[in-house]
Amino acid sequence: DMMKEVSGLKDLERKIKSLLDIKDVIVVAGDSDLSPWVKKEMGRACVACMKERLTSQSIVAVTGGTTLAAVAEMMTPELKQIDILFVPARGGLGEDVKNQANTICARMAEKAMGNYRLLHVPDQLSDEAYQSMIEEPAIKEVLDLIRSSNMVIHGIGDAITMAERRKTASEEIEKIKQRRAVAEAFGYYFNQEGEVVHKVKTMGIQLEDVKKVEHVIAVAGGASKAKAIKAYMKQAHHSVLITDEGAARELIRE
Ligand code: F6P
Repeated sequence: DMMKEVSGLKDLERKIKSLLDIKDVIVVAGDSDLSPWVKKEMGRACVACMKERLTSQSIVAVTGGTTLAAVAEMMTPELKQIDILFVPARGGLGEDVKNQANTICARMAEKAMGNYRLLHVPDQLSDEAYQSMIEEPAIKEVLDLIRSSNMVIHGIGDAITMAERRKTASEEIEKIKQRRAVAEAFGYYFNQEGEVVHKVKTMGIQLEDVKKVEHVIAVAGGASKAKAIKAYMKQAHHSVLITDEGAARELIRE
């Protein structure tokens, strides 16, 4: 649109798209590190992007985090015509209740007047408990829905910030640091090259599954996330990135 062309955002979008070599990029004005409302603007852009891409009867899987919480707040009932089923992308990843995938999933569905299913699994599971839980019919059913989603909307975080926010055990944090993780998404930690160096064990969508999903939208902004975005996108070329000017300008500076 005209406003974006004039403000130079379109130019930023083109630059970031070719720099990261990804499907599409949307850049909103501002820096969410400095102004919290910028997350809502990314949310608004994400909802518009969903509307453009979704056809009837879609399954949308979502992750947690404050950015996705902002996306949920911006969801509108016009999406009702599409008949969306919202599901959490993965099980517990150690977030506060308000930022958990389940909470966000339910909120999105409420705002979009769609339906939702939740995944009730504890954050830390022993191998044994894990094996028996995935056999539970009620859980299995939701896992199948998650695996057949045709859209995934997720956040990206700085690796150390996320490990600390999750109150990860100190030995595990050491491992994450030693392996030079810089990005985190879906419970996976990535190094600068976009290689997985650590993973939180939980059920739901796995990284291999994400690569097969038709529409994948990453929503992440703020200059402090530039390194993480760059690293994550190295292995996510078929994704759409919704970000802000703060992250975009920092990405170009790097
Ligand atoms: O923990 C869920 C999650 O989506 C992470 O995968 C991601 O790194 C993080 O939240 C992003 O959180 P925020 O939007 O609050 O920066």
